Amino acid sequence: MDKFKLVRSNFDKDNVVSYGNMFLIGNGHLGYRGTLEEFNKSEMVGLNVVGLYDRYKKLWRESINMPNPFKVILSNDSYLYSVLENKPIEHSQSLDLKHAVFSRHTEYEEIIIDSERFIPITKQNLLLFKYTITAKCDTKFHVSLGTDDDIYEINGPHFKSKKILHRGRKIEFRGKTNEQKNVSEVNQYYFNNQDFEYDNGMFDFDVELKQNETYEIICYSTILENENDEAQNYTLAQYKKIKDLHFKDLESRWDKAYIEIGGNDEVQFYSNYSIYHLLILGNENYETSIPARGVSGEVYKGAIFWDSEIFLVPFFTLTNPKIARSLLKYRINTLSGAMAKAREFGYDGAFYAWESQDTGLEACSKYNVTDPETGNPIRTYFNEKQIHICADIVYAFSNYVEITKDYSILEEGGLDVMIQVSKFFISYAKLVMGKYRFIDCIGPDEYHERVDDEAFTSYMAKFAINECIKHLDEGLQKESFKEFVDHLFVPLPNESKLIEQFRGYFKKEDVDVDTVRSRLVHENDYWGSKNGVATPTRVIKQADVIALLVLLNKEFDKETMKANFDFYYPYTEHGSSLSS
Ligand code: IFM
Repeated sequence: MDKFKLVRSNFDKDNVVSYGNMFLIGNGHLGYRGTLEEFNKSEMVGLNVVGLYDRYKKLWRESINMPNPFKVILSNDSYLYSVLENKPIEHSQSLDLKHAVFSRHTEYEEIIIDSERFIPITKQNLLLFKYTITAKCDTKFHVSLGTDDDIYEINGPHFKSKKILHRGRKIEFRGKTNEQKNVSEVNQYYFNNQDFEYDNGMFDFDVELKQNETYEIICYSTILENENDEAQNYTLAQYKKIKDLHFKDLESRWDKAYIEIGGNDEVQFYSNYSIYHLLILGNENYETSIPARGVSGEVYKGAIFWDSEIFLVPFFTLTNPKIARSLLKYRINTLSGAMAKAREFGYDGAFYAWESQDTGLEACSKYNVTDPETGNPIRTYFNEKQIHICADIVYAFSNYVEITKDYSILEEGGLDVMIQVSKFFISYAKLVMGKYRFIDCIGPDEYHERVDDEAFTSYMAKFAINECIKHLDEGLQKESFKEFVDHLFVPLPNESKLIEQFRGYFKKEDVDVDTVRSRLVHENDYWGSKNGVATPTRVIKQADVIALLVLLNKEFDKETMKANFDFYYPYTEHGSSLSS
């Protein structure tokens, strides 16, 4: 078993979407899904640009997919060398985890197709692609190669105008989004044929090969996000140089991030695979954060959630602090959006968006899930009540500063974030029975909405304000923050050392996950919200109290951790991949 290679042999249409995610390549700004060259938008081919968002009419605003620069269709008379149409003799696709290179190998009776693509990790806007056809006998075939601007989009179309131009062997896509942004893609193709026709993004030509001869195509694709940017010209010789540099860059990232697990190759592989997906998300040249779905597409709108601060920043803090810093800078840069959201909901300070995009304004809608039977939207309160996001952000700042000792981030706006978050929590809390309490919240367990005294939220908010206090000069503000945390209610462990997830949780129906699952009318019914099957029960979507105990592990002893783990684990459905 190669512990740095993901390989899947044979082709099955049912795997197209999951392989698109699994074989993803990216550089934290661009992502290209693990699809094959003959695929179309129905197979979710996607070149996603994080940080570039657009809204079409009243649909959800989401990150944009660009045209596919690597479209190749091979045919011989009416026979298509496409896995979608004709079963090859042999087929495999693989991902080199060490170097973030996708490749495919497909064999037909007469020809062998090999391709590779990668996105240089330290460049911002470049993708490279090589495609070769090797003849197994003397043969002829037709090549259709170019840029496919029939783009897969969930809430599009995002280009209200688009043009495809060609000059020699370059194809340029120019699009204007609904939000008036001019974006282009310049694709420079190298192929050895004088005799080609061009039509609407595609070059068409015939190739004749003798047995064992190979025909090669290379493409450099550059995304231009600013009108005045120009694409660089690349020579053929640069392909190898850029690839060597990309390999070196990635190897040095691996040197810092590799975790050796002795004695179990399979576990080692999965550890490598997980680290791969983190490494392709860090871009040192780009000051944005990482969306929940990484660079895999516009699912979740390309939006940034608490996932970044709690699940990603710690990894980068330890392996590449420069990237961690830029993830945190994103929250400083979007503080004004968070303050605008707080004002909109009638609070002070900064209320960070549950789903944040370029401006920091809220991208999460009031109706975030759909009833699978009726297609009706279901009212959810994630954007209004999942206030723990604010504390999670402060937690990440504090963790980063503690480990790196880079206090300059606080001077550059980090402390402002802490102050505004503290003000927000103070204005959200209500004084009930002599204690400040967070009434009407949602913790990480989204199946129980609008609960009171939620443990994760209360402890994390207390931690965040205390962190802020640590860095404040003496004065009235510090005093008022102190007065607040001194009187902030947090649910303490009971005599069995259990922390109640929220007020009344222990009184919920005591059933297990399978029983609750068996009550679903439709397998895709939403478990939470007003009428969800989990709502009246103890079954929770994802780790909530347990997550708290992990994050604030210095505050709890082992017995408390074990007691809560044993108690909550059987009720945890893991409806979010964050849970385990
Ligand atoms: O942030 C998570 C949330 O906790 C559960 N639903 C999906 C979101 C994005 O991963």
